[in-house]
Amino acid sequence: MEVSVTGEPGLTGNEETGSGGKVSGERRYHFAIDIDGEYAVFTLDSIGQVETWNAAAERVTGYGAVEILGKPFSVLYPAASADVPLPTDLLARAAATGRAYYEGWHARKDGARFWASVLVIAQRREQGDLAGFAAVAHDFSSRHLIEARLRRSEQRLQVMIDSVEDYAIFMLSPTGEVATWNTGAERIKGYRAEEIIGHHFSIFYPPEGRAAGLPERMLETASTQGRSEAEGWRVRSDGSRFWADVIITPIRDDTGTLQGFTKVTRDLTEHKRLEELEHVGKLAAAAERAREDEKKRIARELHDDLGQQLTALKMSAVILKQEVEAGHCTMKTAAMARGIVTQTDETMSAVRRIASDLRPTMLDDLGLLPAVEWLADEFSRRYGIKVNTRLSAGELEFSDTAATAIFRIVQEALTNVARHAYATEVTITIEPESSQCEVRIDDDGRGAGPASSGKSDSFGLLGIRERVRQLNGAAWLGNKPEGGFSVKASFPLDSIVHR
Ligand SMILES: Nc1ncnc2c1ncn2[C@@H]1O[C@H](COP(=O)(O)OP(=O)(O)OP(=O)(O)O)[C@@H](O)[C@H]1O
Ligand SMILES: [Mg+2]
Repeated sequence: MEVSVTGEPGLTGNEETGSGGKVSGERRYHFAIDIDGEYAVFTLDSIGQVETWNAAAERVTGYGAVEILGKPFSVLYPAASADVPLPTDLLARAAATGRAYYEGWHARKDGARFWASVLVIAQRREQGDLAGFAAVAHDFSSRHLIEARLRRSEQRLQVMIDSVEDYAIFMLSPTGEVATWNTGAERIKGYRAEEIIGHHFSIFYPPEGRAAGLPERMLETASTQGRSEAEGWRVRSDGSRFWADVIITPIRDDTGTLQGFTKVTRDLTEHKRLEELEHVGKLAAAAERAREDEKKRIARELHDDLGQQLTALKMSAVILKQEVEAGHCTMKTAAMARGIVTQTDETMSAVRRIASDLRPTMLDDLGLLPAVEWLADEFSRRYGIKVNTRLSAGELEFSDTAATAIFRIVQEALTNVARHAYATEVTITIEPESSQCEVRIDDDGRGAGPASSGKSDSFGLLGIRERVRQLNGAAWLGNKPEGGFSVKASFPLDSIVHR
């Protein structure tokens, strides 16, 4: 609806400039008549008493024209309170500047409050003296109610977020500073709101994560892809670590400009511990099975190999004994004695072979690197696959535990190459590098199929991971981009050296 008062612009805005309308004589009294609908329109005389009143004004305020004509306009306002400007103030402003605008509480006849806007325009006669005021009011109760409801629902949401305990839910600025905090965040991360708000969220990452640029990458991914999610170690305020599941989502305004991020973090430490227990349980079962297999194999070898040889040896010895007791001491008995010596040698080497399968004696006799060389030679001879070795220990002296673990890792990786890779060449690398020692077995084979990682009956790679974990190392097992499979482990020197 277009409302204009003798040359005044439409009733929008709350600017208080302008000179007010200049009307002559009676015309100002007809101002209200033409306008109906949602706008309450009325005029006041120069001291603020109601002169004209339209139907909408009656509907909105509850006052009929008869009751209100001649009454001061201040009856439309609640008894003076801090948030209501005195009606005389409003008129004084309109008289001084031409118009005045107010949005706020008004009072109905029955005393109920309603939220409305009112624009008061001073009206002057040709001579310039104040003739009175024209006023247009709009009842905003419903808009106000909607806003109040919205505010309440925002408050409720805030209270809900605040009270969530199992999730840290908070906001970050576009550059990653913590902007809000909830109870869950305090419980999981240990910081109180006043300690953490304003700090960059990289404070939650362990030093190695910060050094690798993880926090920045999380924000980058979230803002370019609409979300980033990660699992990993995070640090509490007391320095302890927890296993976290983190989701970061960008917040943008209507124009797409980045306003910040929401971050939801869950503490999965307990979950991870259960997973590890399950993992350890599986490993223990696998180890038990491997021990059983080993016992069976040893029993078979003792029975079939050593048993046969000892039986033959005993028969030879019995015959020799009979010959000697009968006083025969001929060429034949001498040959028999020589045979017994040879058989004894063979038996001893069988004993040595069975024992060295149980524990690579080479490790004790020669040390890790020569034992790995030997393993590589044996492998190459047996399978016709070329093996390159790049082994160096520098000053390093491996502890027994580390030597055994690394030997077994290489052994399992080579066994896998023989069984799964279809490779023509393998490279074994053992090299110290600053504070780490790297162990790698790379092949040029066909790599692992997609289903291989979840096989429930495969324990080789699992065992490798476990050995690496026990030595505080990190392991990467998988296909290489250029083809082939790689088993790579990196150990901190101080957990593998001999003390
Ligand atoms: N060098 C490799 N090249 C290709 N695939 C491989 C290689 N190493 C491992 N794999 C794949 O990974 C799977 C898991 O290996 P893992 O050593 O854990 O089990 P496995 O060799 O099948 O059985 P085991 O428990 O007797 O070792 C293999 O079944 C195979 O599919
Ligand atoms: Mg295997």
